[in-house]
Amino acid sequence: MLLNLNDYRQAAQRKLPKFAFDYVDGGAEDEITMANNQSVFSRWQFIPPVLKASPKRDLGVNWFGKNYQMPVAVAPTGYNGMLRNRADELLACAAAKAGIPYIQSTVSTSSIEQIGCHGNDNHWFQLYVLKDKHVTEDLLKRAKDNGCKALVVSVDAVHFGNRERDKRNYARPMKLSLKSYFNIATKPNWVRRVILPQGIPGFGNLKPYLPEQYQKGVGGATYFAEQMETELDWDSLAWIRSIWDGPLLLKGLIAPDDCRKAIEVGCDGVMLSNHGGRQLDGTISPILLLAEIRRLIGPEPLIFIDSGFRRGTDIVKALALGANGVLLGRPLLYAMATAGEQGALDAMNLIRGEIDRTIAQLGCCSIADLKSELLFEV
Ligand SMILES: Cc1cc2nc3c(=O)[nH]c(=O)nc-3n(C[C@H](O)[C@H](O)[C@H](O)COP(=O)(O)O)c2cc1C
Repeated sequence: MLLNLNDYRQAAQRKLPKFAFDYVDGGAEDEITMANNQSVFSRWQFIPPVLKASPKRDLGVNWFGKNYQMPVAVAPTGYNGMLRNRADELLACAAAKAGIPYIQSTVSTSSIEQIGCHGNDNHWFQLYVLKDKHVTEDLLKRAKDNGCKALVVSVDAVHFGNRERDKRNYARPMKLSLKSYFNIATKPNWVRRVILPQGIPGFGNLKPYLPEQYQKGVGGATYFAEQMETELDWDSLAWIRSIWDGPLLLKGLIAPDDCRKAIEVGCDGVMLSNHGGRQLDGTISPILLLAEIRRLIGPEPLIFIDSGFRRGTDIVKALALGANGVLLGRPLLYAMATAGEQGALDAMNLIRGEIDRTIAQLGCCSIADLKSELLFEV
């Protein structure tokens, strides 16, 4: 029975070959940050007021002039094609139906155009800045031409995390181990759903820039690793601000002073994240600094947060501490891997129900009613 987001994780584990499940599920090194991301929420406990009627709740939010149905967005995740054929499109369509933003990764399997042709006006684009400025500029032009409503610049994966679970499934980089191939043979439905329709999924979004030798299958990963801009700095962000005239959010920062600088450089908001524990193991969970960051940057800039959110109660705690919205990463991938677009939509509706129930029990009628006074920090 799929009663909560954690149930989808178990369902996905049953459906996916081990290497694909580990790719999504794993974190960096000892996965300490990843584990902390989920346990940290117990630090805050609710103080529910009583005799306060909240018969009808409105979970709606307005970001950049557009209304969304709840304060949740689909986190950008790369290489989703390993989980389902047309995975990015399935997620984007589910998000459109749920009325929440779908943030497409630079390293998505589907291209910006393939997402764009579904006509969703909740399409946002996440940029990894590449060394070749023309490629970065072209990605932004494509995002604009396809109606992306906001640009999210991720800055926490300039150097890749040390994901040992992945390494154990491969004989060498890009080459699965014999054991992984045997394991794939036990998942014929995955082969039918993922490999038969498209072959080995590639990096569809980067295809226009891939040299001939990198065009096929996972070759794009090598190109991407070589092309990632390792000398990113605040000037790079100022340059992006100068060439992107729409809403701009910086993702993957946690330090309060970095948030202050992001707003100074002209970002409209920040996305606090430790990349779901996939980058530097031992990194703090962003929610621990959320209230301080809100105090520092003031009430106006948008603050999104992610890493470890699995329950409506987790999301409500972040909103009460000053966040405007929460990104969900792995849970929606598990749901989409389990049951495609409908699975992702069901998971989104499930989390909407949890948020609604939590708000009702706190005697609140809207997201704006959530205040830190509803929480006790133990
Ligand atoms: C499989 C996978 C791929 C990811 N790829 C990207 C990416 O391409 N760009 C990005 O900014 N973040 C990426 N992330 C990080 C997510 O956007 C998000 O920060 C993280 O998943 C949130 O944590 P959660 O999975 O615990 O919800 C990825 C995360 C996962 C699990």
